[in-house]
Amino acid sequence: TRTAVVIPAAGRGVRLGPGAPKALRALGGTPMLIHAVRAMAASRRVSLVVVVAPPDGAAEVKSLLDAHALPEWTDFLVVPGGESRQESVRLGLDALPPEYDIVLVHDAARPLVPADTVDTVIEAVREGAPAVVPALPLADTVKQVDPAAVPGEPEPVVATPERARLRAVQTPQGFDRETLVRAHGTVTENVTDDASMVEQLGLSVVVVPGHEEAFKVTRPLDLVLAEAVLARRRL
Ligand code: CTP
Ligand code: MG
Repeated sequence: TRTAVVIPAAGRGVRLGPGAPKALRALGGTPMLIHAVRAMAASRRVSLVVVVAPPDGAAEVKSLLDAHALPEWTDFLVVPGGESRQESVRLGLDALPPEYDIVLVHDAARPLVPADTVDTVIEAVREGAPAVVPALPLADTVKQVDPAAVPGEPEPVVATPERARLRAVQTPQGFDRETLVRAHGTVTENVTDDASMVEQLGLSVVVVPGHEEAFKVTRPLDLVLAEAVLARRRL
């Protein structure tokens, strides 16, 4: 069995504010994408990383990766991405050589995930789960609001799911390759995570423990946190 990782990195990072595409923004002086690729390659089980670059930035990403050494057990490929995360992941899957039977999908925007989390996900897929997601319990209570709320007005609450039963999902998510390819070929509705497409096929998805440091860099405050985590690691 061989494991590859698809890293969608083609997003602009609108919520992070103006600047370079999010994956190319620096964290401790090194592009976020390089951190994310290294985080995947830190697992000895990862033998290929497919980076899905901004559509007009594939050459730049390729030279960036050439300039940053990876461990000898990990190879990489770069392909241009699409309009949505989902499309970017599919383009990454399309580029995957046949010998890989396990595929992980990991956001470039989660640069600090520990290797242990990656290994835990891979292990669960190897043991037979078609889809595995790392996730954490929530700190905040979640409210569901009325989708018909009037913009600018306070939003009516329609439900409060029991917090103890909710999980905040991270990446890398791990899949039996054939299952994920089928999900991407079947589900047309736009979703924000790959595992939910497998759920829509009626297949089981399981949760394994995620990690606090696998948080997604989404808004400016997340960059402050990411810099602090890196600085603490370098002590
Ligand atoms: N992504 C992608 N292709 C897209 C959109 C997103 O590959 N067309 C990737 C991002 O690069 C990121 C991951 O999907 O690594 C998670 O998406 P998100 O955090 O939403 O990143 P962005 O879409 O770049 O950010 P924003 O939504 O704030 O614009
Ligand atoms: Mg986005």
